[in-house]
Amino acid sequence: MKLAEPNVRETPNNASKKTTATILILDDDRFILDSLSEFLEMEGYRVLTAGAFDQARVLLERNPVHLMITDLNMPSIDGLGVLRYLHDHFPQTAAIVITAFGSIDSAVDAIKLGAYDYLTKPIIDDELRMSIQRALKQQALQAENLALKQQLQRQNQYGEIVGRDRRMQKVFDLIESVASTTTSVLITGESGVGKTLVARAIHRQSPRNTGPFVEVSCGSLPENLLESELFGHVRGSFTGAVADKQGRFLAADGGTIFLDEIDSASPAMQVKLLRVLQERQFEPVGSDQTVTVNLRVIVATNKNLKKLVEEEKFRQDLYYRINVVEIHLLPLRERVSDIPLLAEHFLEKFHRLHEKPVESILPEAMSLLARYRWPGNVRELENAIERAVVLSRGTVIGPEDLPADVVEPACAETRGLGCDDSGTLIELLANAEKQIIQRALKRCDGNRRETAHTLGISRTSLFRKMRDLGLQ
Ligand SMILES: Nc1ncnc2c1ncn2[C@@H]1O[C@H](COP(=O)(O)OP(=O)(O)OP(=O)(O)O)[C@@H](O)[C@H]1O
Ligand SMILES: [Mg+2]
Repeated sequence: MKLAEPNVRETPNNASKKTTATILILDDDRFILDSLSEFLEMEGYRVLTAGAFDQARVLLERNPVHLMITDLNMPSIDGLGVLRYLHDHFPQTAAIVITAFGSIDSAVDAIKLGAYDYLTKPIIDDELRMSIQRALKQQALQAENLALKQQLQRQNQYGEIVGRDRRMQKVFDLIESVASTTTSVLITGESGVGKTLVARAIHRQSPRNTGPFVEVSCGSLPENLLESELFGHVRGSFTGAVADKQGRFLAADGGTIFLDEIDSASPAMQVKLLRVLQERQFEPVGSDQTVTVNLRVIVATNKNLKKLVEEEKFRQDLYYRINVVEIHLLPLRERVSDIPLLAEHFLEKFHRLHEKPVESILPEAMSLLARYRWPGNVRELENAIERAVVLSRGTVIGPEDLPADVVEPACAETRGLGCDDSGTLIELLANAEKQIIQRALKRCDGNRRETAHTLGISRTSLFRKMRDLGLQ
């Protein structure tokens, strides 16, 4: 018997009608191949046909096939063997089998081997149409699931950092390239975007990863304590210094020191930091002994350091010293495509931690998560998922398990605007306008030109409104 040539046929007229899923038909009966492919092309699918298993294999290797339709009872080919092959080599391709009327046993075997559905001959158009639609839907869900899983696996090399967004991929590349060097790194971004996580990842991937990773939050200590915390002190150097204390710089020797909230370092502290960064040397408080250390410095801030330099609140020389490489992390609302991935990641984390049977997030809940603005960024999302896992009574997270702000962003906005609905329309609008402008000013770090631009009004209008609303 002469086998049909591998064949790709596309119908341009129908190409845009619906999804251009690719369907491969394997049958050694030429008549079935032709009639099925004609029908499916009319339905708008991209159709590949094969009269033999070898041809089908070639087509599978060269084309992303979403669905394979195969006859089970082909004299020259073992239909179940085809399914086994598909299952092992192309698990993302769904399968529908066609069986002769009455051979139910083999159909059951086929389903056990992962076939999505079986159709008995003679094939009825409507049945085939429905079955294909359902199989493709299922296939798309599985493919998405698999992609998420693979993505999560890839993330493991970056520790716990999850991100599929192209700009997060760039962050991963940057982490990789700076990790092997001793260059200072400045990590910027709003609170909760993952700065600390990135700092840890750099250390973990660096050749110093067997050394210590020491984290200091510069904003959490008053100036005099911060100095002794960082550089150490000798006994008696100030009231309360009852014993020698080793500073964090020395503790980080051979590893990495991570200075968080660097913007809050006082001018005097900035001078000292500059010296350590330049010379890797310092003197503990009350000592004239110079200590030399070998470490990598990473700093982070959620402020705009360049602007602080312009305002002379941060030393320019220190800024240049620390800003050799900047890693900027975008707010979560600007990388919306990462939200589902992060949500799944946290679900997995808290499902294990709290030993709750919650396994998935309903699509409605997921779309609410994707729509919310996340002012607290990833940290806020993480908290929302933990809360949902703890509160959920079933195996899924639904909208009712999410915080009110996420479910009713419109209400939250209104609340944010302080509309308690008492007052005249003019007063209420003025109040709303005031808050919108205040928020825009905050987002633009007080820069009026930028604020006016963001709000789509002229600078003069902005000034006037600010004056009228008592914002100056
Ligand atoms: N890309 C990410 N993948 C997984 N978890 C993340 C990611 N980004 C942030 N997180 C998690 O979100 C939380 C906040 O992150 P992190 O503490 O690193 O933020 P931050 O930018 O340092 O915040 P802050 O400015 O308040 O110090 C942490 O629990 C962290 O594990
Ligand atoms: Mg942090």
